[in-house]
Amino acid sequence: MKIGIIGAGNIGTGLGKRLAAEGHDIVVSFARTPEKVAEAATTIGSGARPGSPEQAVAHGEVVILATPWGATLDIVGSLAGALAGKMVWDCTNPFAPDMSELLIGTTTSAGEEIAHAAPRAHVVKAVPPFAVSLHAASMEIGGRKPGVFVCADDPAARAVVMQLVADIGADAVDTGPLKRARFTEPLGMLVTNLAYVQGLGPAIFAALVR
Ligand SMILES: NC(=O)c1ccc[n+]([C@@H]2O[C@H](COP(=O)([O-])OP(=O)(O)OC[C@H]3O[C@@H](n4cnc5c(N)ncnc54)[C@H](OP(=O)(O)O)[C@@H]3O)[C@@H](O)[C@H]2O)c1
Repeated sequence: MKIGIIGAGNIGTGLGKRLAAEGHDIVVSFARTPEKVAEAATTIGSGARPGSPEQAVAHGEVVILATPWGATLDIVGSLAGALAGKMVWDCTNPFAPDMSELLIGTTTSAGEEIAHAAPRAHVVKAVPPFAVSLHAASMEIGGRKPGVFVCADDPAARAVVMQLVADIGADAVDTGPLKRARFTEPLGMLVTNLAYVQGLGPAIFAALVR
C-alpha cells in the first residue's frame, strides 16, 4: 500500500521500517529539520522517501500519525481537508510531556479528538508496541507477539490497519468502534508506567491471550 507517515521519530521510523520491508511504499514527514526527515527515510530504507506532511498525506492511502500528543491536533487540523477520505492510523498516546499522566481519557480519547479535528478522515486507533520492539530484530518476547488493539468506526479502515498490524509482526485485536480508544489508551499509560516507573524496561508489551 501507499503509506504516508507524519512523525519522523522513533515510532514513525520503527513502523516505517517494518512496513517498507513488507513491500509498502512509504513517504515519511514531520520533524523540526529537513535533515531529520531525510535521516528517517534512510532509516526506514526499502525505497522510503522524505517529504512534507502535505506530500505524505497526498501519497498515503493510509496516513500514520506518530506525533507527540502536544503537536498532534495542530498538525491534523492543518491537514484536515487533505485527510478527507483517508485512513488515519493514530499511534499517539495523549500523555503529559513528562509521561506522568494521561491528559485526556475515559470520557473521550485522543483518537476521538483527532476524528473531530479531521472529521472526514477514517480514524483508526491502534497504539503500537514500544519503539524499542519495533526497531528490534524480532518483536516477539517469550515466543509471543505483542497485542495491538485496533478501534475504528469504519470497519473497512479497521480491517486495513489490522492487516498492517499483522504485517509488522504484531497480533491485531479487533476492538470495535473508535470510542473504545477510551479504554485502550489508558492501557498504553499502564504499560509505559510499568516500563519506565516500575522499572521493568521497554522489553515488555500487552497482549490478549485467547
Ligand atoms: N516511543 C514509543 O515506544 C511509543 C509507543 C507507543 C506510542 N507512542 C506514541 O507515538 C507518538 C510518537 O512517539 P515517538 O516516540 O515516535 O516520538 P518522537 O521520537 O519524539 O517523534 C516525534 C516526531 O514528531 C516531530 N515533531 C514533534 N513536534 C514537532 C513540531 N512542532 N514540528 C515539527 N515536527 C515535530 C519530531 O521532530 P524532532 O525530532 O525534530 O523533534 C519527531 O520527528 C507519541 O504520541 C507517543 O506517545 C510511542
